[in-house]
Amino acid sequence: MAYNITLIPGDGIGPEVIGAARKVIDASGVDISWEIVEAGAISNKNLGTPLPNYVINSIKKNKIALKGPVTTPIGEGFKSVNVTLRQNLNLFANIRPIKSYEGIESIHKNVDFVVVRENTEDLYTGIEHMVGEDAAESIKIITKDASERICRFAFELARREGRKKVTLVHKANIMKLSDGLFLRCGKEIAKEYTDIEFEDIIVDAMSMKLVQNPQNYDVIVAPNLYGDILSDLSAGLVGGLGLAPGANIGEDIAVFESVHGSAPDIAGKNIANPTSAILSGVMMLKYIGEERVAKKIENALAETLKDKGTIDLGGNLGTEEFAQEVIKNLK
Ligand code: NAI
Ligand code: MG
Repeated sequence: MAYNITLIPGDGIGPEVIGAARKVIDASGVDISWEIVEAGAISNKNLGTPLPNYVINSIKKNKIALKGPVTTPIGEGFKSVNVTLRQNLNLFANIRPIKSYEGIESIHKNVDFVVVRENTEDLYTGIEHMVGEDAAESIKIITKDASERICRFAFELARREGRKKVTLVHKANIMKLSDGLFLRCGKEIAKEYTDIEFEDIIVDAMSMKLVQNPQNYDVIVAPNLYGDILSDLSAGLVGGLGLAPGANIGEDIAVFESVHGSAPDIAGKNIANPTSAILSGVMMLKYIGEERVAKKIENALAETLKDKGTIDLGGNLGTEEFAQEVIKNLK
């Protein structure tokens, strides 16, 4: 039986990298019936909203989506499509694996950890207002429920993947109430997982340590903002945004998407790296239980990356040509 999966090409390089990922997945032998829906600039132009209801309904129906990046216009009066999707579908966990691949020029080798980012609150609730004309306030929200849920998710992920340590990132020395609550929740949940090591660290110190010794980390759990920043930083340690996949996971719905955005600077030129989109597809296949196919694609990708790459990796393959190489290596 075919899987029904929502496919959102997105903006900028989205259609190129999602198109490449789709070709690789289809060539792997798994039977997927894609429901293609448009979100972002196109629907904003045609329908007056970047996130039409039918997109949300399609994801709610199929429970699984593979999504391209969507441009968030700055200061144009509507909320980020990504943040809205994550909140509407209650996709509370954002998972971003950071892994070294052979053949990639990068600052570090042998890196293999996962950033687990809280995805529904913190400074991303969009609750902001002006105070008079010369001041602005953004409200940071941290709740016990969401903090416990994401920390438990991080420990469960550690167990499932045979990982040994969870590192909680915070700034509780300054934000004693909000980050203090997040930290307290993490410490409480840690008591239920005595088989997994637990440590906490302040976000600024973590930024330095990640750059120096990323091999020391296994699972990193953080509130929304720190998780967002640290995952981009981490992608930079192993070769850049073109390599970093991600997943937004809720109770029974999951949306898989790269860490990177729509990259307008390189859109439409067939030069974007589709690796992160392909790896997001690999995460999706694992999630639906297609472990074998997922492994097959990941192996083909690793094989391809050993001696070939897109321009961001110092190689000379286009998006499409790279995908074709991966398909050749599928076995
Ligand atoms: P970006 O991630 O799109 O680009 C940052 C830099 O990385 C650029 O130089 C770009 O060329 C490069 N890059 C990104 N992905 C690449 C790939 N696959 N291959 C090769 N190079 C790649 O971040 P930026 O420019 O800050 O954001 C552009 C737009 O994307 C904004 O409107 C932003 O709001 C949106 N965005 C959307 C996301 C999503 O839909 N999940 C996530 C992040 C940003
Ligand atoms: Mg980001």
